[in-house]
Amino acid sequence: MEKEFKRVCSTKDLTEKGSAIGFEVDAEQFLNGFVVLFNGKPYAYLNRCPHVGTELDWVPGVVFDEQKTFLSCATHGALFDPVTGGCVRGPCINQFLVSLVIHIEDDNVMVAV
Ligand code: FES
Repeated sequence: MEKEFKRVCSTKDLTEKGSAIGFEVDAEQFLNGFVVLFNGKPYAYLNRCPHVGTELDWVPGVVFDEQKTFLSCATHGALFDPVTGGCVRGPCINQFLVSLVIHIEDDNVMVAV
């Protein structure tokens, strides 16, 4: 099935290594996604840790570690490269967050869901 692009926020809503903006991907499956801005570029992922499938953030939008270097899962502390989604440390090492196709249209952040 062809994916649709959905507007998830404005580019102005994203702050460098700041809060993630969440959005719904599939209501029936309780599946959400998030967008972050890292080194000036937006990245979108499903909000589902490859370890046991929980959402990364306990506090909504808090997905960066303290150093703002990696995305971090609040459940067991896995760390992910924000660019590739690859787990670099933790129980799901070498597994990946599911990345979503993202593009900017005018000031709108559009994600394929
Ligand atoms: S659920 Fe994310 S590290 Fe275990």
